[in-house]
Amino acid sequence: MTNDKKLKIAVFMGGISCEKEISLKTGQAILKSLLRLGYNAYGVELNENNMLTAFIENDYSLAYLALHGEYGEDGRVQSVLDLLKKPYTGSGVTSSAIAMDKIYTKKLAELAGIRVGKTYSEVSLIEKYPVIVKPAKEGSSVGLYLCKEASEVEKALVELKDKKPIIEEFIQGEELTVGVLNGEPLGALRIIKREGHEIYDYDSKYIVGGAIHEYPAKIEKSAYEECVKWALAIHQELDLKGISRSDFILQGDKCYFLEVNTCPGMTETSFIPELGTIKGYSFDDLVEKMVKEFAI
Ligand SMILES: Nc1ncnc2c1ncn2[C@@H]1O[C@H](COP(=O)(O)OP(=O)(O)O)[C@@H](O)[C@H]1O
Ligand SMILES: [Mg+2]
Repeated sequence: MTNDKKLKIAVFMGGISCEKEISLKTGQAILKSLLRLGYNAYGVELNENNMLTAFIENDYSLAYLALHGEYGEDGRVQSVLDLLKKPYTGSGVTSSAIAMDKIYTKKLAELAGIRVGKTYSEVSLIEKYPVIVKPAKEGSSVGLYLCKEASEVEKALVELKDKKPIIEEFIQGEELTVGVLNGEPLGALRIIKREGHEIYDYDSKYIVGGAIHEYPAKIEKSAYEECVKWALAIHQELDLKGISRSDFILQGDKCYFLEVNTCPGMTETSFIPELGTIKGYSFDDLVEKMVKEFAI
């Protein structure tokens, strides 16, 4: 680490999506890590007033993006940074925009030979209940509906009418999530949900003790290899950079791909640091690898 010390790293966090609070936690954890590693780094909290100006007015040689959701993880901020000719961590504009949209991502996954659950384009085409109705472009299980009949779907579609709702076959099974860092698969983690929680909802995700994380996932070797192979395939297919995290449901011995996150949570208790330990990487190792990959 010689030239690295000349870097001035701004960690952008917060923002204006519904995942703002998690982003702030991710940003603080990354900033602390950068400081531990001896980098010249500082945090920038984004809000509706400085969403554009913060990128223009701050002084930095690398933008470390700790933003989740809309206007952060979806290519918009990446596009601003491209215009400013500033290097930034993570995926580029097009990859981020596609990955943010669960409908486009699923189509590309299917083309790549990855197993996905059925998507129904309208209520009359639903073959089997229950189904999941969720926004195509939101994260953190916000706006997720488990519907047992057509009337519930209609209601959910009205609730989500401005959010490009997607109707999906409900895949009952075990939750898996797989991390990839700079093209290297980290491994798979199994999320063991609490009883009574059919979906991995917001509370299970963000409340301590909400779910048990098992890593590496103790599942059949073939299923483990399948989801890891597919997470890497998605990473490559969408030309993702830095860290990505793909979610799957394991039903029997079959993995179904759900979605990919291009800027997954990096709090001390998030999945990615846990997945990193499978490869022997500490939190700081992950952060340092990101800096080295993207600093010019
Ligand atoms: N088709 C589905 N079948 C079963 N469970 C689902 C389905 N889609 C979403 N879920 C549940 O909702 C959670 C969040 O959905 P996901 O597609 O990963 O979106 P996000 O994490 O962006 O909110 C999943 O982890 C899973 O528990
Ligand atoms: Mg998810």
